[in-house]
Amino acid sequence: MQEIIALADITQFRSRSEEFNPYDWYRDKLQNEPISYNEATNTWNVFRYDDVKRVLSDYEYFSSVRTRTTISVGADNDEGRGNDKINTINADPPEHRKRRSLLSAAFTPRSLKLWEPRIHEVVRQLLDEMGDAPVIDVVKDFTGALPVIVMADLLGVPSKDRLLFKEWVDTLFLPYNKDKAAEIGELKRKAATEYYTYLFPYIVQKRSQLGDDIISDLIQADVEGERFTDDEIVRTTMFLLGAGVETTSHLLANSFYSFLYDNDQVYGEVRANRELVPNTVEEMLRYRFNISKMDRTVKQDNNVLGVDLKKGDVVVAWMSAANMDEQVFEDPFTVNIHRPNAKRHLTFGNGPHFCMGAPLARLEANIGLELFMDYFEMIEPVPGFQLEENLTPSAAGQGLVSLPVRVKRA
Ligand code: HEM
Repeated sequence: MQEIIALADITQFRSRSEEFNPYDWYRDKLQNEPISYNEATNTWNVFRYDDVKRVLSDYEYFSSVRTRTTISVGADNDEGRGNDKINTINADPPEHRKRRSLLSAAFTPRSLKLWEPRIHEVVRQLLDEMGDAPVIDVVKDFTGALPVIVMADLLGVPSKDRLLFKEWVDTLFLPYNKDKAAEIGELKRKAATEYYTYLFPYIVQKRSQLGDDIISDLIQADVEGERFTDDEIVRTTMFLLGAGVETTSHLLANSFYSFLYDNDQVYGEVRANRELVPNTVEEMLRYRFNISKMDRTVKQDNNVLGVDLKKGDVVVAWMSAANMDEQVFEDPFTVNIHRPNAKRHLTFGNGPHFCMGAPLARLEANIGLELFMDYFEMIEPVPGFQLEENLTPSAAGQGLVSLPVRVKRA
């Protein structure tokens, strides 16, 4: 089993809201300690753009095969574990290439085209369900539900089971918590067993009734005779849910937070000119995906970053800090939806492991924001909102659990 590194021992944020707005920490690290060793966790931490990019992509020196990691997802029982054939995240090329080719069956450009109208429908349904209330909770009613429902739909899970599905996913990807590790571990094992028991027979049945969904694509995937078994498909869906649900919710929720609290001009401007939506999404990925980081293990002694790294050392690459590097982004600590190079952010990673779901996440965010703007002419903060009380730890940093918004319907 992998040893989990507690990020909190590196960041030492004093409150949830400080972690949600970690800009001073990044500024300090970029200026004063761009590469630093953290004793409490025995990790190297890297903050500048070029260094982060190198650590993420140079697999000759920085390996994704690891025994210690900052990533904690899934359950550690038989049903919750991945296996080597499906796990792209823990492999280096050339092995990684094989695994990734097989998994890429789930992400063809053809599927993306097919998904577009389905995502539209899910978004419309959620917006319709909000009714006429003058105040909505954009996290509870919209951003927290959208990605998991989209994934359930794309996997081909019957709509009547979506809530059940959401509950399992929420539990399976509860974040690592040193003080409650045993309790959370037990909840995850239970959810993994229930999820596995639910999905396995469904995949067996799908084999004889293929459809336009990810499970059918995975059933048909074939790379030089290598195919997925039913068991591997269940595990692959869990891997995709772990990678793609909370992350996308986070992107959407934080975008609304930004429209309300970072710059209250953005919503109106983008609503009036929808061509700005894609770059707004990129700027949100750059500026508001607060804690994006990934670790690698040093493969051979080296000095490529200007410090002596030894084989086996763990290096944490802070993508969210790299996104604030003024060598690359002008006036980086400001939200600027017109930023010409916003898309250079490293939030989806870099190199061979670049996020396979990036086109899907972008599509969901673009459609989600655009349709929301069709429904709502104006959004405003609700006075008295307390950020600190409305955050919860998640694998992607502090996540909003609630964000009340005063709305005016179009
Ligand atoms: C990999 C971020 C959404 C599937 C990654 C990596 C990052 C990332 C940083 C690279 C990991 C590494 O370098 O080791 C994000 C963010 C998302 C998002 C910020 C949303 C805003 C999704 C979605 C899916 C997905 C929607 C699919 C449903 C994957 C997969 C990999 C991956 C399969 C592994 C690729 C590999 O190891 O080759 N993601 N992701 N992600 N992501 Fe995403």
